[in-house]
Amino acid sequence: MPDVTLTTLQGLKQKGEKIVMLTCYDATFARTACDAGVEMLLIGDSLGMVLQGHDSTLPVSVADMAYHTASVKRGNRGAMIVADLPFMANATLEQTLNNSAMLMQAGAHMIKLEGAGWLAESIGQLAERGIPVCAHMGLTPQAVNLFGGYKVQGRGEAQAEKMLADARALEAAGAAMLLLECVPSELAARITEAVRIPVIGIGAGSATDGQVLVLHDMLGLSLSGRVPKFVKNFMQAQSSIPAAIAAYVRAVKAVEFPAAEHEFSA
Ligand code: KIV
Repeated sequence: MPDVTLTTLQGLKQKGEKIVMLTCYDATFARTACDAGVEMLLIGDSLGMVLQGHDSTLPVSVADMAYHTASVKRGNRGAMIVADLPFMANATLEQTLNNSAMLMQAGAHMIKLEGAGWLAESIGQLAERGIPVCAHMGLTPQAVNLFGGYKVQGRGEAQAEKMLADARALEAAGAAMLLLECVPSELAARITEAVRIPVIGIGAGSATDGQVLVLHDMLGLSLSGRVPKFVKNFMQAQSSIPAAIAAYVRAVKAVEFPAAEHEFSA
């Protein structure tokens, strides 16, 4: 696979071909995902839950993220590597810049920040310094305590209008990509239509420009036994992990995943 760049992603959005992203935390899975055709590897701070066994992403450190980003980089073959800035690593602008630099130096091509319209200044400062940013909106797991649980966001007209306005503002501030988590499908479709940058969804319906899942979820592995509605277990119909990841890639490209049963309504 030729190296996936921002130009590649823009081209995929323009021609209506879905972008496939998957979380990844080590070199072997990075190679396996690339061989299966995954275009974007996300070193998500979900590693705090699926690798470290915490009950939220809050304990994850920048050092943890840098370690796993460097591991993924060693196995990568052409995918775009996106690394999460973990909880409170963007408490100040200076921390945002320094911690993003650390993840870029570990091998990331793009940094993902959780938040909403208030991220505009950080996104602008990072973009000016040559760091592409993905703004993660909707259900942002680092704010689980504020939300009172892992709940769908953007329901009701007022919340929906606010998220749409925030998405536009973050694009104007210089965001290279948006990620929408647990958002009603109709709202995700409106946002995807409203911005020129690619929009990736998880629990946001099939109209977004691409999809992401947590690796362990799509392989049917769960510590808690609670499987979110938007997850599909791709191992069920396959006999190997490479085959399951390839089936996920095919299903996203064919717009067969997510299906209606994985979506949230307004
Ligand atoms: O940390 C993560 O894995 C994520 C995905 C759920 C999008 O942010």
